[in-house]
Amino acid sequence: MRQAGRSLPEYRAVREGVAMLDSCFRTDLVVEITMQPVRRYGVDAAIFFSDIVVPLKAIGVDLDIVPGTGPVVAEPIRSRAQLDQLRDLEPDDVTPIIEAVRGLVGELGSTPLIGFAGAPFTLASYLVEGGPSRDHLHTKALMHSDPQLWHDLLERIARIAGQFLRMQVEAGASAVQLFDSWAGALSLADYRELVMPHSAAVLESVADLDVPRIHFGVGTGELLGAMGEAGADVVGVDWRVPLDEAVKRIGPDRSVQGNFDPTLLFAPREVITAHARRVVEEGRAARGHVFNLGHGVLPSTDPDAVSHLVDVVHSLEV
Ligand code: CP3
Repeated sequence: MRQAGRSLPEYRAVREGVAMLDSCFRTDLVVEITMQPVRRYGVDAAIFFSDIVVPLKAIGVDLDIVPGTGPVVAEPIRSRAQLDQLRDLEPDDVTPIIEAVRGLVGELGSTPLIGFAGAPFTLASYLVEGGPSRDHLHTKALMHSDPQLWHDLLERIARIAGQFLRMQVEAGASAVQLFDSWAGALSLADYRELVMPHSAAVLESVADLDVPRIHFGVGTGELLGAMGEAGADVVGVDWRVPLDEAVKRIGPDRSVQGNFDPTLLFAPREVITAHARRVVEEGRAARGHVFNLGHGVLPSTDPDAVSHLVDVVHSLEV
């Protein structure tokens, strides 16, 4: 999560001279980069190397991932005419990506591959703002000034996200994660009315595939119940809410994922050990718990600290 591979020297080596989005469309690189953390750390699952904007690029949206900034869209989408240009995702648009899923499933053997997509709100925020945004100003202005255009835009994006998830699962991914990274910028009322139905539509669109669906956001303490209601099997929790408290908000019928604070990987080993134990203990309140960071690995993280964390978690009783 959170561009995790960037902290690895072997990642930086293979990415040398290859632009981020180009690497996402190269089967050999997607396979290699996805495998790197599995090889190094022996984690229990692999997260597919791609980006949430890849399906948008694949249908022809003029965008790039700018190093140090994030996704940047050449012409922000704020009108009906622009929305009409967002077409469905066809398998031919992502052939090298789907080849990579197939190759990985063979190489991973019994280690599951988690596919993913960006959720409608987070993708819409990039499309409407034109790039990363702290305040999501244009996005929130659009949702309240032209709710019909907003709903139509999210419905479009939801279809594309659902199609991308389906293609990954059909090629062998054994779980999916829907990233609504910026949903925490919303009030609960706005989330419920203007966003949740569309995230629910994405999750529902892959319900028949019978794979676990993880629904993740950052700063979503107030939204956890609603994010669970949107239909996920597992709700991702950042480090702000302890997992036992998160379980009270989400309810007993869903599992949780999280929520080790990624900045604590910069602390001494004994602090990492103690915090990992606490997260595991708090997670026992849940029906099921996928141990993970509360958001992703920061690029300057020492890979040996991550190894230590993985070893600590593996040493604990399930
Ligand atoms: O962790 C992984 O490497 C798995 C693959 C993955 C990437 N992006 C690769 C990537 C995943 C799951 C994502 C999801 C993603 N992308 C999200 C949702 C998760 C989250 O972090 O909340 C978001 C918001 C994005 C958009 C995005 N892409 C940002 C904000 C950035 C960082 C830009 C920067 O340089 O600071 C990216 C680029 C990106 N995506 C990188 C990677 C490995 C780094 C680019 C590089 O190495 O050149």
